[in-house]
Amino acid sequence: MTFESGVADRVRVVKSYEALSQLTAEQIANLLKANPYGRLGLPTGNTPRRCYEILAEWSSQGRLNWSKAKCFALDDYLEVEERFSFQHYLESNLYRFTDLPLDARFNPRQVDNYDQLILDQGGLDFCLLGIGDNGHIAFNEPPTPQESWTHCVWLSEETKQANRKSFESDSTVPTRAITMGISTLLSSRSLVLIASGKNKRKALHRALTGPPDKDLPASFLTTHPNLLVIADFDW
Ligand code: GLP
Repeated sequence: MTFESGVADRVRVVKSYEALSQLTAEQIANLLKANPYGRLGLPTGNTPRRCYEILAEWSSQGRLNWSKAKCFALDDYLEVEERFSFQHYLESNLYRFTDLPLDARFNPRQVDNYDQLILDQGGLDFCLLGIGDNGHIAFNEPPTPQESWTHCVWLSEETKQANRKSFESDSTVPTRAITMGISTLLSSRSLVLIASGKNKRKALHRALTGPPDKDLPASFLTTHPNLLVIADFDW
């Protein structure tokens, strides 16, 4: 097996989804403790659900202070009912259990220039990322070049299929989204990529072992000096 030098050292393989979620929640808790002003990029999807539940528990117990932090959704659907939006997901799974101020909950749909907003807020300290079966990160679908900032996208058929289960019918599955670009994500001071379940193995393996490639957007993450990958399977 060949892989980018040093990448293997940056992968933590844990035994279960629960262990992945605990470790990920600890990463976020440690960041907030070290830097209460932390600016976090946050994903949605199934993978971070349990991590957010743990963070919600710790927050409800008063063990985490979000009062000075800022959170930025990585992406969101366009033209979707509010209850299906990623902002709603983050509100209902995480934010409402925390003391994160209402004006510190950012979303790319809010502004014309999300990258400028992020810069004005001091830049991202930490980004949590999931990975799509086709190797997408946030909604950077293949092919997406490294030189991409926040932009609108048409979702791939594969991604629409993967998202279908959250919607009542084919016609209500969103076709468009807005997402931080690869350069937005790479500009974060640290990155944590989480992958759970064997169906993510192929994409993760290709991303970590091949050269950076626009046809596999997650592969660009290997160029980041401060990347941690947490997987609950042998990649
Ligand atoms: C979605 C999101 C990503 C997420 C990915 C994986 O399309 N835009 O941010 O990481 O798919 O989702 P899941 O964790 O449900 O597999």
